[in-house]
Amino acid sequence: MDVVRFLALEERSVTFMQPLPGFRDFLPGDCAARNYIFARWREVARRYAFVEWDGPPLEATELYKKKSGAEIVDQLFNFTDKGEREVAMRPELTPTLARVIVAHEREFKKPLKWFSIGQFFRYEKQQRGRLREHFQLNCDIIGEANLAADIELVALCIDILRAFGFTEKDFVVRISDRDFWTDFLREKDVSVDRWDELLQTIDKFGREALEKTAQKLGKLADPIFSILKNGGKSQKLDQLVGGLRERGLEDYVAIDVGIVRGLAYYTGIVFEVFDRGGKFRAIAGGGRYDNLIAQLSDSAVSMPALGFAMGDVVVGELMNETAHARQKLENAIANDAKIDIYVVIAKEQRRDDALAEIQRLRDHGYRVDYPLTGEKVGRQFQTAEQLGARVAVLFGDEWPQVKLKDMISGEQQLVSKDDFMSHVESILR
Ligand code: HAM
Repeated sequence: MDVVRFLALEERSVTFMQPLPGFRDFLPGDCAARNYIFARWREVARRYAFVEWDGPPLEATELYKKKSGAEIVDQLFNFTDKGEREVAMRPELTPTLARVIVAHEREFKKPLKWFSIGQFFRYEKQQRGRLREHFQLNCDIIGEANLAADIELVALCIDILRAFGFTEKDFVVRISDRDFWTDFLREKDVSVDRWDELLQTIDKFGREALEKTAQKLGKLADPIFSILKNGGKSQKLDQLVGGLRERGLEDYVAIDVGIVRGLAYYTGIVFEVFDRGGKFRAIAGGGRYDNLIAQLSDSAVSMPALGFAMGDVVVGELMNETAHARQKLENAIANDAKIDIYVVIAKEQRRDDALAEIQRLRDHGYRVDYPLTGEKVGRQFQTAEQLGARVAVLFGDEWPQVKLKDMISGEQQLVSKDDFMSHVESILR
């Protein structure tokens, strides 16, 4: 094959016969797992009395340039739209939330407790736990400066992971306080305009070569390394842990001042969640961003805020590797896949009568399937079993009676067409 033709073919297969790098196809099993994750997210967020909202998937690029920080701006999927606007697929929700709060602040009683589930896009290097699209659950509390809100938020994050069956042996929430570091930098007389860059360097500790980090930190390297090695103390962090202790959740958290968070807008308490085995990337991350709303509105609206986001990719990976959580997922998916009723059409002459009843059953809300074309009765019962039908209803020579088979007990009964709905109801109740 000549090289040009080969390249042309390769190009073609890359461009449209496969998903783009870092993007996923969701086959039915993948969708079932995704729905399971969303259901747990929604269920626990609602348990904490959070309400659901959403923003648009496309925003002005400027919103992220101003608010997210350099790392995310480098990863933007951005383009100029047909109206010559500079736009970007959303890499995160927080700047949108701040924008929405500035516009609608007066319409809601504070504090707001909002959650959202959506897809996000970052042009990252594809690797384990990091793709170019992912789904996030975002939970944010707006308009509350008290530490009680931070405790509530961390507790919510823990309870969401517990709903998947994870225990304190599977994950840990590493909590930290950016104020700890800004106090330290102030004490060392470091000028405020260098803080951001230094915090980013501390955030990368352990993820880039030690010499490189030391070089960037200059004469602060030794004291910072010593804090990172021996741990830092903060009254606020002790209080936070105390609040979680009262809820019986202390074993799920650890103070770790090495957590600084890469995003530029964080102000106070920050946290990240990791698997205990240290095998995966962060499961979730968040913290306080008390100045973001004021910055975005040129101080027209000023409100404390805090939140976190959890991604579906690492949750999925951790579930796969954690036997009890995986079993819970598999059971839920198997249950969800089951249909209620399979209609067996034993005589093709009865197809129209069967279809009229199928319509009635579906109108009643039952999940019903049947063969679209003629098939042997034995095969139809096999399909009923494979689909997990609770009841099979046979339309054949007995008409206007039908045969009902309880697929668990194997019991069969002949019932008249007029009575069969109430019989089905009593089995499926
Ligand atoms: P983040 O740490 O950038 O925070 O992302 C939160 C979580 O989203 C991560 O811990 C990870 O599970 C998931 N995630 C992020 N990027 C990817 C990726 N490329 N592939 C797969 N999963 C990913 C934020 O986004 C903040 N806006 C969170 C927040 C909400 N802070 C306050 N409120």
